[in-house]
Amino acid sequence: MLLSLLKKIVLLSLYTIIFACSENSSKTISNNFFPGKEWIDNNGVAINAHGGGVLFHNGTYFWYGEHKIEGKIGNTAQVGVHLYTSENLYQWEDKGIVLKVNETDPNSEIYKGCILERPKVIYNKKTKKFVMWFHLEPLNMGYTSARSGVAYSDSPYGPFNFLKSVRPNAGVWPLNVKDFHKKEVSEDVKSVYGGGPEHLPKHVDSLNILGRDFEKGQMARDMTLFVDDDDKAYHIYSSEDNSTLHISELTEDYLSHAGRYKRFFPSKFNEAPTIMKTSSGKYFIISSGCTGWSPNAARSASSDNIFGPWKELNNPCVSKDSLTTYNSQSTYILPVHGLKNAYIFMADRWTPENPIEGKYIWLPIEIKENRIEISWRDKWNLNFFN
Ligand code: DGJ
Repeated sequence: MLLSLLKKIVLLSLYTIIFACSENSSKTISNNFFPGKEWIDNNGVAINAHGGGVLFHNGTYFWYGEHKIEGKIGNTAQVGVHLYTSENLYQWEDKGIVLKVNETDPNSEIYKGCILERPKVIYNKKTKKFVMWFHLEPLNMGYTSARSGVAYSDSPYGPFNFLKSVRPNAGVWPLNVKDFHKKEVSEDVKSVYGGGPEHLPKHVDSLNILGRDFEKGQMARDMTLFVDDDDKAYHIYSSEDNSTLHISELTEDYLSHAGRYKRFFPSKFNEAPTIMKTSSGKYFIISSGCTGWSPNAARSASSDNIFGPWKELNNPCVSKDSLTTYNSQSTYILPVHGLKNAYIFMADRWTPENPIEGKYIWLPIEIKENRIEISWRDKWNLNFFN
């Protein structure tokens, strides 16, 4: 009698586990990734770190991202940058808000209601500071100011102190400037505001947006950070009204732009740039096109040098729904610590009507000689890389 009861209990628990695993395992403790499914933290609450990036430091992964709230207002920064930590990449602990929006001084550039997107954090070995950069649009500017904010902390757990916002490289020409950029800028380009290819002529260089912004600094919206093997750090951002990608070296302390930068893919309108470097020294960029919150097909490019030349490759996504990047947009490429050539493509499935519901798409990147591929997987884990 007791034995059969015990049997029933064991069977019932097994069934519950199997059922939960097949339906929505992110609700259970599971050493698997479930792209696009709800992903809960140690408190059973959905992870809230959108447009994020992951730093690995002293055995721990730190996932920083935009904290979103309910309703359309949640597309603006009402709270700040949220941090989660993990030892294994599957289970994440909520560590709270590490950069808070300012709620007391309306003159603050990060005053509540500003647009603060795509925060990324890197560690500076020399200064021992953790440096965060993000796309910043101060309150009521829409997306027109196209600035970059920088904050720093002594600890990866924060709090991060907001230092300043900038338009990168004011008064500095890129290393690959063209003669026509230095010519006078026509009046019409002075008022141009685009954000997507539909607003601007096909060949944006005819407008010379670079020249227009030479003195006040270049526009910088979607962005990522990258620290190379020689500890030089780079800020990679959509510039020139999103038409052109800039790769810009940061100063030794990572807190400013060093004045060494290059422009790539002019008139190709890349957003959401991400970057990785393989063990053989090849760099790959994955980015998106410009269609607001709606997904589009990802792009990829490769180079043997961070400053190019960059070769444009195909859409790295190869399964069904590849034309919408599996209904998502890139945000970061996460190198898995301790595994050779193991990179995770991190992307956001945006839900702009109720941004807090946005989901995360994490998929393994497969390196195929001179290109990369991302296949859809409902469920996968790090054994994929073995
Ligand atoms: C696409 C960008 O990648 C997002 O970060 C955000 O800025 C939206 N556009 C806003 O429409």
